Amino acid sequence: MLRRQMIASAAAALLAVGFAAGAQAQEAVKIGLILPMTGPFASTGRQIEAAARLYMAQHGTTVAGKRVELIVRDDTGTPDVTRRIAQELLVNDKISVLAGFGLTPLAFATAPLATQAKVPMIVMAAATAAITEQSPFIVRASFTLPQATQPMADWATHNGLKRVASLVTDYAPGIDAEKAFKERFARDGREVVADVRVPLRNPDFAPFLQRVADLKPDALFVFVPSGVGAQFMKQFQERGLDKSGVKLIGTGDLTDDDILNEMGDVALGVVTTHHYSAANPSAANKAFVAAYKAANKGARPNFMGVGGYDGMHLVYEALKKTGGSADGTRMVDAMKGMSWTSPRGPVTVDPKTRELTQNIYVRRVEKVDGQLYNVEFATFQAVSDPAKAR
Ligand code: DHB
Repeated sequence: MLRRQMIASAAAALLAVGFAAGAQAQEAVKIGLILPMTGPFASTGRQIEAAARLYMAQHGTTVAGKRVELIVRDDTGTPDVTRRIAQELLVNDKISVLAGFGLTPLAFATAPLATQAKVPMIVMAAATAAITEQSPFIVRASFTLPQATQPMADWATHNGLKRVASLVTDYAPGIDAEKAFKERFARDGREVVADVRVPLRNPDFAPFLQRVADLKPDALFVFVPSGVGAQFMKQFQERGLDKSGVKLIGTGDLTDDDILNEMGDVALGVVTTHHYSAANPSAANKAFVAAYKAANKGARPNFMGVGGYDGMHLVYEALKKTGGSADGTRMVDAMKGMSWTSPRGPVTVDPKTRELTQNIYVRRVEKVDGQLYNVEFATFQAVSDPAKAR
């Protein structure tokens, strides 16, 4: 009798273990990827989704015994929509990770939900320095504007530019860029001779470009968000500024790889600083660009794409370190201090700020095999976010 009972309970225990193992393998870690897939910033969403899917195709959909599932939602670039979608994904879909955030206001709107739900929030695009301070659950896979801008000011200084005008889009990342450039550049007789902010929606650059033509500065420093650069370049050319001797400089958002080729020869010679160029010659980047092109009808990845790709890397590697636990605090702790070789170069998650320490490259637009590229020619190594150094 006893023996029979023992066998029965052993069998029941085995069955229970079997079920548990099966359930665990089936249990999904869901990533809610919220992106502008329509509207003026749709290129950001398209790039990030394509790169996130590429990462999953290359690395499989099972990590540390868990199935990883991506749920992509379009927020049209509207903060209220981003927040509503995040809430729905957390409550109804029981997602374990929030990801995406194509623009700063979208990240700001969602940060309190990440804190409440104790869920990691991977910022793959938005780049205002203060974002990571909005929640201890935010980890950034993109960059910050002060990080990209300060090296531009240094390069301008070292290249004898003395009078520079500044043009930025009038919202948080633009203000970050304007401030970082001015603070670094306007010393020892160097001067920002004019600064203008243009609206995020339907910007018209013409009136300011006329002023720049009259002021004749040595250079014009520009920040516009990804996707807007082509429009700017068109007006720059229409005003004849490309032939005026005013050097065009900026952060790499201006000469975004997604639209650089459409800009035409007016873009040749533009010097920018940024963390990613599709022309980066490393083996890791060559493989990334080739795989991205093969999966996307020959389209080139830009810095948004690399943010999506590295954001997925953070989630996958964190899950490996927690042994498959999607507990938010454990995942964020696992991401802190993580280092790897990204297509952009070596990166580390600063454990104090949850920002990436990364190389910032100085690049010049050149023609390579008949196509326009940001060709890197100097490197500021292992740059951390200067906005948090104080
Ligand atoms: C932001 C958006 C961009 O498209 C970009 O290139 C840089 C910053 C932002 O809203 O934070």
